[in-house]
Amino acid sequence: RSDFALRGGRAGTVLVLGAGVAGLACAYELGKAGYDCTVLEARDGIGGRSITLRGGDTLTELAASPVAGVADGALGETQRVGFGAGTYFNAGPARIAQWMVTLDYCRELGVPLEVFVNTNASAYVLTAGMRRPVRVRTARADAYGYISELLAKATDAGALDARLTKADKERLLDFLSDFGAIGPEHEYTGSERRGFRVDPGVRPGTDLGTPPPLTQVLAEGLGRVLTMDAGYDQAMPMFQPVGGMDAIVRALAARVGAGRVRTGARVTRIMNRPDGVEVTVEGGGVLRADYCVAALPPHVMAKIPGNLGTDVVAALATPTPMSAGKLGLEYRRRWWEIEDRIYGGATETDLDIGHIWYPSYGFHGERGLVVGYYNTAQDAEIYEGLPHAERLRQALDQGAKVHGPAYAKGILASASIAWRRQPHIEGAWVSWPSRNGFSLLQRPAGRVYFAGDWLSHLVAWQAGAFESARKVVTEIHHRVLKEA
Ligand code: PHE
Repeated sequence: RSDFALRGGRAGTVLVLGAGVAGLACAYELGKAGYDCTVLEARDGIGGRSITLRGGDTLTELAASPVAGVADGALGETQRVGFGAGTYFNAGPARIAQWMVTLDYCRELGVPLEVFVNTNASAYVLTAGMRRPVRVRTARADAYGYISELLAKATDAGALDARLTKADKERLLDFLSDFGAIGPEHEYTGSERRGFRVDPGVRPGTDLGTPPPLTQVLAEGLGRVLTMDAGYDQAMPMFQPVGGMDAIVRALAARVGAGRVRTGARVTRIMNRPDGVEVTVEGGGVLRADYCVAALPPHVMAKIPGNLGTDVVAALATPTPMSAGKLGLEYRRRWWEIEDRIYGGATETDLDIGHIWYPSYGFHGERGLVVGYYNTAQDAEIYEGLPHAERLRQALDQGAKVHGPAYAKGILASASIAWRRQPHIEGAWVSWPSRNGFSLLQRPAGRVYFAGDWLSHLVAWQAGAFESARKVVTEIHHRVLKEA
């Protein structure tokens, strides 16, 4: 799958709607095969949700989330991003798993990669059941330790005899001894896996004291926060493009050719004709092509007039745009490295900020950018409704529960995004309430094809957009070859 190419000698003209990953990938692959593509993008910049914010950028949001039913299209606050040179904030996608096709595109396009630290034993966890944050390694040692103790004792007491042979029992006890670092009587009393109050050096380390009792560890509800990286799409090592996620979309656009990508071009009408497609651009006339790939969010496309058919429009309106938000905090000083000894990774919380991410680039530099929240669904909806200054204040209050009152000090600049308030995007990703419409939209409506992560089983990943793009350009090409 790494050497994707369309083969065969015919080509045609294609209008691609949307210059996000799906649209740019379509234009890139079709262009390699000799097609004449034009990409129409309603926003002022390319990339869709693959936005990297830097000093000097501006970010304008809608006055309200369209889902909230207010003032459709009206613009609200504009943030002027004041980050210093070298600081960047991936406001959208930020991490790539090893198995994702996104990495094949990075290789093909020459986009350099570095490790994205997704989990870090030195970061903290703070759940609703915890009075204060605890290092991931400490929480894990206690959870694994007590679970191993319970299981080992139950095994010894014969509680599992119906399931286990004598040999199974010995092997299980052997496993649990390593898994939980439990003692000869199967007791968990802590271990150096928990970390130290004073780290070892010439002198031995000073331990953290005795572990909290079993009942407290159970009350901490650590299941979710300790298994985040068990997800197929979240396991380390993960990767990020050096210098910002927009390196991918800039490389794609460069290969497509700047002259073929028109930004600020809002599509107001899509018409299937017997021998082609007609697309009307606001203030820009009518464009014609053999085929069209509509690589817009479905809820946005559902509002564009045309003759795609009522069943297609109903299918486009089926997925629900979800809320997600991020806040970038540029600090004067990399206190998380200097004081907390945290180099990348995330603190997982049950607070409305979701996670705090520490930067995976610029280690030991002067300044650094922490993601003060990355939240989704109901948590994101809280912040979505606030102006930036309020988002900032609330996130700093919450983050102080992890890092103390100094968390609010030394901030040079900040920027936040509420994805449902992004013009022409209006959502972080979609959720399909049912698969109704999903298979209908896998097929073209006349000469109009649909592409995007929302038509894949990798919703909310650039890889889903790439996979969908490959499928659609292959189908268009086969049709063109057949019609020859
Ligand atoms: N891809 C996004 C992320 O990594 C959103 C997502 C999260 C998608 C978790 C699936 C699972 O944060």
